[in-house]
Amino acid sequence: MYKYERAVALSRSKINVDKQKTEPKPFLTDIKTLRERARKNIAGGGVTFTYHGDVKKTIEILQSVLATEIVCVLRYTMHAVAAQGISSEGVKAEFAQHAKEETEHMNQVAERINQLGGRPDFNPTGLATRAASEYGTADNLVEMIKENLIAERIAVDHYRELIRYFGEDDPGTRTMLQHILVVEEEHANDMHDLLVAHQGRPMLP
Ligand SMILES: [Fe+2]
Ligand SMILES: [Fe+2]
Repeated sequence: MYKYERAVALSRSKINVDKQKTEPKPFLTDIKTLRERARKNIAGGGVTFTYHGDVKKTIEILQSVLATEIVCVLRYTMHAVAAQGISSEGVKAEFAQHAKEETEHMNQVAERINQLGGRPDFNPTGLATRAASEYGTADNLVEMIKENLIAERIAVDHYRELIRYFGEDDPGTRTMLQHILVVEEEHANDMHDLLVAHQGRPMLP
């Protein structure tokens, strides 16, 4: 019995060794090298040696994402205040909630730009041209909902594209955008539902 168990244990450990030989191991840098690099690259701030993306390009892209989020904050805030008419209270509350979430996105993106060594661009001059979405001109409830739905769809498409673009080169930025994307999808869905409730049809003209 003892012999049998020993034989099984031996053959198991052999299988493990063989497995280790055949399966490629992910490359790991030893602690000493990591620490040396971190000390040497301290001037690079949060951008470390293993960052595979183009930092300059990433910051440039994120400045446009930041502008998009700022414009969304402004539009939703304005709509939350200006929405009027029958059953506008629920819609106002929804706009205000979205404005709050867009503000969170704005701050996250600004923080990321800062981590990468950039200076987040909050300059109001040229803001509209840096942003992917529009501020809007709607003057009634249904038009406001439509404008927000369009802006959310633009954000969703834009962020999906950027998530693919960053891929494995910048998992930090990609993960942040993935979290934002989930919320933008919810926003688009909320606006779609409001449009159906207030217009009676799901489709945009
Ligand atoms: Fe957002
Ligand atoms: Fe949104």
